[in-house]
Amino acid sequence: MSVKAKKKKGPTTTKLREEKKVLKVKLIPVYVMGKRYEVPEGLTLMKAMEYAGYRFIRGCGCRGGTCGACGTVYRKPGDYKLQVALACQKTVEPDMYITQIPFFPANRAQYEFAELTSAPEEVFKLYPELFRCVACNACTKACPQGIEVMDAISALKQGNIAEASRLSFECIQCGLCTSRCLGELAQYHLFQLARRIYGARIVSRAEHLAEMVKTVNEGKYDDILNKLKRMKKDELEKLYQEREEEPVTAGEDWKPRDTTYL
Ligand code: FES
Repeated sequence: MSVKAKKKKGPTTTKLREEKKVLKVKLIPVYVMGKRYEVPEGLTLMKAMEYAGYRFIRGCGCRGGTCGACGTVYRKPGDYKLQVALACQKTVEPDMYITQIPFFPANRAQYEFAELTSAPEEVFKLYPELFRCVACNACTKACPQGIEVMDAISALKQGNIAEASRLSFECIQCGLCTSRCLGELAQYHLFQLARRIYGARIVSRAEHLAEMVKTVNEGKYDDILNKLKRMKKDELEKLYQEREEEPVTAGEDWKPRDTTYL
């Protein structure tokens, strides 16, 4: 066999194998904004839409379930229920009708945070529409994060900023609650304000953080920081790749082998 023939055979075989692999993928029908497509099962809604030919220039950010850019609504055949999901997290199911919501208009109050106190009236003044909530709970049903949105709004109405902050901690500001709200509230902006006030004015300061800031200011890390600053890119990369990582299952008492900078 000539070298030329050998070279030719390799890629051809690989290509055939790839084609076979592709043929083994099961395709399922989904409807994107009313149009039918066949997409491989197991894809996320986002990837399925891309497979179908859509290109995201909005409504897509982290692809990891944290930025809230990809709020999506869908229905399944024979089910009256309108369901919600993050397109980057939910996987396709046969015959789903999918539509991504665009950015949903929501006014954010303007304020100088430094001038705000922890008084509940601060929230009432900035977002008087808070009291338009009719407790229908549509917001909770629309939350892809499973947050008790209406309970958090109720807490705010009662002036309990700490509780609203705790309940809304997982909010990623996708705006699906706002798109369904009969009272026309922008819940996610209210929650953001609640968490800011809670973090800055209500919760007690972390002692270990204050201690660490003091240690940094006293210069304990100056030498190592200066050494790092002088390193070349490849040295830094090597150091980073060889670093000791804290095991996922590590307990509170875990310490690295080198404790010089603890
Ligand atoms: S793209 Fe960020 S949450 Fe889906």
